[in-house]
Amino acid sequence: MADKAQIIIEGKTYELPVIVGTENERAVDISKLRAETSYITLDNGFGNTGACTSAITFLDGELGILRYRGFPVEQIAEHCTFIETAYLLIYGELPTQTQLDDFSNSFTKQAGLHKDMLNFFDGYPKSGHPMGLLSAMVCSLSGYYPELLNPEPSQDEMKRTAAQLLSKVRTIAACTYRKSVGQTFVPPREDLKYIPNFLHMMFSSPNKDYKIDDTVVDALRVLLILHADHEQNCSTSTVRLVGSSWANMFASISAGVCALWGPLHGGANQEVIEMLEEIHKNGGNVQQYVDKAKDPNSNFRLMGFGHRVYKNFDPRAKIIKKCADDLLNKMGIHDPLLDIAMQLEAAALKDEYFIKRKLYPNVDFYSGIIYKAIGIPKEMFTVMFAIGRMPGWIAHWKEMKENPNSKICRPRQIYVGKTKRDFVPVTSR
Ligand code: CMC
Repeated sequence: MADKAQIIIEGKTYELPVIVGTENERAVDISKLRAETSYITLDNGFGNTGACTSAITFLDGELGILRYRGFPVEQIAEHCTFIETAYLLIYGELPTQTQLDDFSNSFTKQAGLHKDMLNFFDGYPKSGHPMGLLSAMVCSLSGYYPELLNPEPSQDEMKRTAAQLLSKVRTIAACTYRKSVGQTFVPPREDLKYIPNFLHMMFSSPNKDYKIDDTVVDALRVLLILHADHEQNCSTSTVRLVGSSWANMFASISAGVCALWGPLHGGANQEVIEMLEEIHKNGGNVQQYVDKAKDPNSNFRLMGFGHRVYKNFDPRAKIIKKCADDLLNKMGIHDPLLDIAMQLEAAALKDEYFIKRKLYPNVDFYSGIIYKAIGIPKEMFTVMFAIGRMPGWIAHWKEMKENPNSKICRPRQIYVGKTKRDFVPVTSR
């Protein structure tokens, strides 16, 4: 295997180091290229650019492999709680019972919101999108915990910030939901575990507790775990980029929430359900939508399809599809949107356009069916993604901070604008 790469520029050969990962992934290190040659590399959308080395998540898009800290995601989804998964991603190893208890207890203590923070919810329009409120609330936590804003946090400060974020994100999410349906805030309960506590804050009323259903808790557990990390995706790269300026963890993750909101990223889960609803309303003709997605004159895309890195199948989508089917069966729900989703998937997978471009259902294609069955409205779907992704964002921020070679992220560009010209007064223009 090559340990050096060569590049010939203007007839001169330069040698560049090759970096090899533990799974044999290879990269040409171009960090000194400009200093030696005055050339930079250009890579639209960073499709072929490694921005860092990372030991958190491995994925092989060609083979459909996804592993958290070396463990196949299928095993983690089968055996772990969401909190164990969060610990694994953030600290690198599965926790012992003592570590797990300590980690869980730190959440229980942090689940409530400062009473002044609750006023923010009243000021936000009822119809405003929950992701806007989530991002603002996550950033606002910085104002309530000034002792956690050290740009070079200790292990203890990092641990306390992570607990605040992991715990409060579900309280903020539940508050946001209750605000949107005109209901009052239901405080967290110390006797409930992470997911049941979230469901309680979402669906209990002041005089009647929501009945926790283990089937629902388990479906949410699987979904949150499958969303927990996905290496250098758009929102995680955003968290790293913002954090690279030494911005605090609250601010960095708030920026990640905004990146996730976009319909090409986490916002796709809401778009998928809206697309399925539209197909259903228009008579269920899936072929018409497949054709529209192929039409070069239309901007329409099949939402929940395609991925920058998966070119075979998305292992998360496989698990979620089965989970959706099982949950609906157990709950005795027949959702016509699930039938439409399956028909749409079948039609696309045998279509030359999708085959040629290696477009498969992604994590967002079936997740909305599960949220819908649980009673979570579609505007909240991307918020659910954010709750799931929180451990990954924290793990990447922490990894970046602990890497002594981390630098501020500052890409270059190739300027293609006007060349130098002289100012012309407004009267002469
Ligand atoms: N429907 C129809 N055509 C598509 C789709 C789609 N969903 N996705 C990609 N294509 C086409 C695209 O038009 C292009 O065709 P051509 O080569 O003729 O120009 C080709 O496939 C390659 O697409 P691309 O946009 O260059 O690929 P990308 O890697 O830049 O984008 C993506 C990846 C996920 C943004 C894109 O597949 C997409 O827009 N999918 C729909 C939105 C979606 O489901 N997003 C969730 C992603 S997974 C969860 C997450 O990480 O957030």
